[in-house]
Amino acid sequence: MAANLNASRVPILNLGPITRGVCVTMCGIIGCVSRREPVVELLLRGLKRLEYRGYDSAGIAVEYPSGIRITREVGKIRRLEDAVGASPQDGTTGVGHTRWATHGKPSEANAHPHVSADGRVVVAHNGIIENYRDLRRGLESRGIVFCSETDSEVIPNLIASHDRGDFPAAVRAALAELHGSFAIAVMHHDHPGVVIGARKDSPLIVGIASDRMLLASDAAAMLEATREMVFLEDGDMAVLTAESASFSRFDGTKVLRPSVTISWDLARAEKSGFEHYMLKEIHEQPQVVSDALLGAIGSGHEVNLEQIGLSDEVLRSLDRMCIVACGTSWHAGLVTKFWLERFARISSEVDYASEFRYRDPVMDSRTGLIAISQSGETADTLAALRRAKTDFNARTLGICNVQGATIARECDGLIMTHAGPEIGVASTKAFTGQLVAGFLLSLKLAAARGTLSPHEVRRLTDQLRRVPQWIARALESADAVRDVAASVADARGFLFLGRGANYPVALEGALKLKEISYMHAEGYPAGEMKHGPIALIDEGLPVVVIATRGPVYDKVASNVEEVRARGGRVIAIVNPGDDRVSKQASAIITVPETDPLLSPMINVVPLQLLAYEVARIRGCDVDQPRNLAKSVTVE
Ligand code: AGP
Repeated sequence: MAANLNASRVPILNLGPITRGVCVTMCGIIGCVSRREPVVELLLRGLKRLEYRGYDSAGIAVEYPSGIRITREVGKIRRLEDAVGASPQDGTTGVGHTRWATHGKPSEANAHPHVSADGRVVVAHNGIIENYRDLRRGLESRGIVFCSETDSEVIPNLIASHDRGDFPAAVRAALAELHGSFAIAVMHHDHPGVVIGARKDSPLIVGIASDRMLLASDAAAMLEATREMVFLEDGDMAVLTAESASFSRFDGTKVLRPSVTISWDLARAEKSGFEHYMLKEIHEQPQVVSDALLGAIGSGHEVNLEQIGLSDEVLRSLDRMCIVACGTSWHAGLVTKFWLERFARISSEVDYASEFRYRDPVMDSRTGLIAISQSGETADTLAALRRAKTDFNARTLGICNVQGATIARECDGLIMTHAGPEIGVASTKAFTGQLVAGFLLSLKLAAARGTLSPHEVRRLTDQLRRVPQWIARALESADAVRDVAASVADARGFLFLGRGANYPVALEGALKLKEISYMHAEGYPAGEMKHGPIALIDEGLPVVVIATRGPVYDKVASNVEEVRARGGRVIAIVNPGDDRVSKQASAIITVPETDPLLSPMINVVPLQLLAYEVARIRGCDVDQPRNLAKSVTVE
């Protein structure tokens, strides 16, 4: 049920003392102060574009002459829209929030925005306040009654407790007491037409338009209003009115923050007629690769990475590369390791960022640390990056898809993946963008270190330029994939096998299927199968094998025979004209033959499509799979 709360009173149900732990949130926030235009519709549309960040509850707070009205609803934004439908729509200042909780049930009381007990201060928060228990205890001892289980509710109450009539000063005083990560949007009953934003370790962007100012966790939420954006730094606060945006540090020091013009347009951030964002994003991959290559390969076949930030001399001085990432980005790291070793002859390792940050790695200033992250905000990857910089003085390089993201800003150098906004929670086009970035980086390093002949560089860059057309042809396998999906959608589980650079692709195929169809799937190096997983083989466990031509083709073909000998059902990804593996397989999906070194970029496509089709047949929520969030900004 929706709750319409007038912030001049506090009618929220009191859930009593906190007993269920921290409500960790990874959420999306938006705010807008407009001169004349009502903001309700804009907030709701913005929240829909932020829904990928979290979608278990949502709310908006809008300012009216009678006070600030808050509407919150459990579930997706469309339920909030229904709840808001009956309310007046003419308010010109407001904030909104879409929430994803890992602890504590999604409920109306836990949904944002939260309001201070005196009803004057309203806050939407993304992140986690680590010291909220102490803060809450202190506030409660002064008679403040809390209404939710969240850590976030301390923020409006803290601001209210510092309120002496100067709104920015009260926010600043509260910020000084907060530990943890946060991006907040704040409104005050006594200060109409003002929204204050602040960030520390959570993204927040200000949008500048002629007739309004906005803020949001993600540029896509503001694109319909403006392309001119200011990316706040950690420790920045922004005070927005309809006509102005002023920036300061938490201590009050004024700062100038340059605005940038975002090139993504709204159509690109929407579904463009596809049934799901994921499908649209799979089909965007030829374009993603073309965009990533724009300007990246010079007329002499040299690799130009504008923002690499590390001189050739530094690149030559490195004696080891260490890649940190999570999930799909980790898989891109595994493929990149293969290229780094092959092209640049540099020893490379790949770590889960969540493991790296807590172990005792051996590295120094001659280690190149590569942090791969689509969002650029993943908490573990960011922590691993900071550890490598601070504790080991490593040279750091980010591979990111989001302009201005924290990881992008904190690395010594950066390679942007240019995949555009990825809305589907399951990463597809960002993975391909990461592969291109990893390939270019490996070539760049090879050039600096003199490990590849000019002829080989020319050959590889020529091949790379052909990847968009190969991916486009791989997408033509969609019908065959749909038939295969129909035949396996009720299997009890899946095994994905690959070797060499296609072993990480097998891992990625399994992850995609798991994430969106909720079926168990495991990725394995094909040669390892006989050391355990072979015991699983029977008719009920389809085995998806990447068996395209290359140096390990014969080995993979033998592995396929092992599966067949045990009655297993093989779905093989093969090149045209394949006769050995195809004869053994129950079904084949054909992809164009490429240089084997580049084949991961092509071979992943049918696996993405397979996961998509199986999930669709099973009626799963493809773009917003259960329990997952797009950007994991808390540990
Ligand atoms: C990918 O499909 C997943 N949703 C997830 O594994 C993701 O790749 C991971 O959380 C890392 O995110 P990042 O690239 O934004 O850092």
